[in-house]
Amino acid sequence: EKKIKIAIDGPAAAGKSTVAKIVAENFSYVYIDTGAMYRALTYYALQKELNLKDEAELLNGLHEIEIILSPGENGQSVYINDQDVTSEIRYANVTNQVSIVAKHRMVREEMVKRQQKFAQSGGVVMDGRDIGTHVLPNAELKVFLLASVEERAKRRHEENQAKGFESNLEILMEEIERRDQLDSEREVAPLKKAEDAIEIDTTSLSIEEVVAKIIDLAQERV
Ligand code: C5P
Repeated sequence: EKKIKIAIDGPAAAGKSTVAKIVAENFSYVYIDTGAMYRALTYYALQKELNLKDEAELLNGLHEIEIILSPGENGQSVYINDQDVTSEIRYANVTNQVSIVAKHRMVREEMVKRQQKFAQSGGVVMDGRDIGTHVLPNAELKVFLLASVEERAKRRHEENQAKGFESNLEILMEEIERRDQLDSEREVAPLKKAEDAIEIDTTSLSIEEVVAKIIDLAQERV
């Protein structure tokens, strides 16, 4: 059986990481959450009080850190050097500023280099915004996951409530829309469906149904 590369892209909170993780497990592939890498840099920049609009400053910051994605019991743990930042990178101040960090060309070039290195061994499921278009243009399977903004906000809201986090559906909807707009309208590697990606609208599908579809598509390609 051939080991393939699977790219999963789509807008914020479309369920990419949830399904990517399960698909990776199913094939015993490596799972790489590229959003976590941009989040880690954003968290680091905020801690160091770097200017998020200053490309050179951010690039220097990125060169100071190793971002480690390590598979753990509850999915993936994220480290900056030896500091566990798995929870911190999901905080609202990071979420609401990550798209500013991710705009910069040189930051993206360095991230893409690291991501391609992670994928070198093959047998990988990678999720993000530009995986099918830029990071893994030769991926054997490219999926573009979609869902209505109402549905995505609702899912995130329920997730927050289950974790006991404070959550407001209206605000979530606005934040998701704003992040999608920034990610879609940026100049460098914007959020965009690759021409050869297969679109799956998950609005009325369960996680299991989405996973099953992707596994079927992957099975045809291994
Ligand atoms: O996937 P997640 O929502 O965690 O991504 C956080 C942010 O990181 C995105 O809103 C986007 O600004 C940036 N990102 C990106 N390219 C990727 C993955 C994420 O620009 N491949």
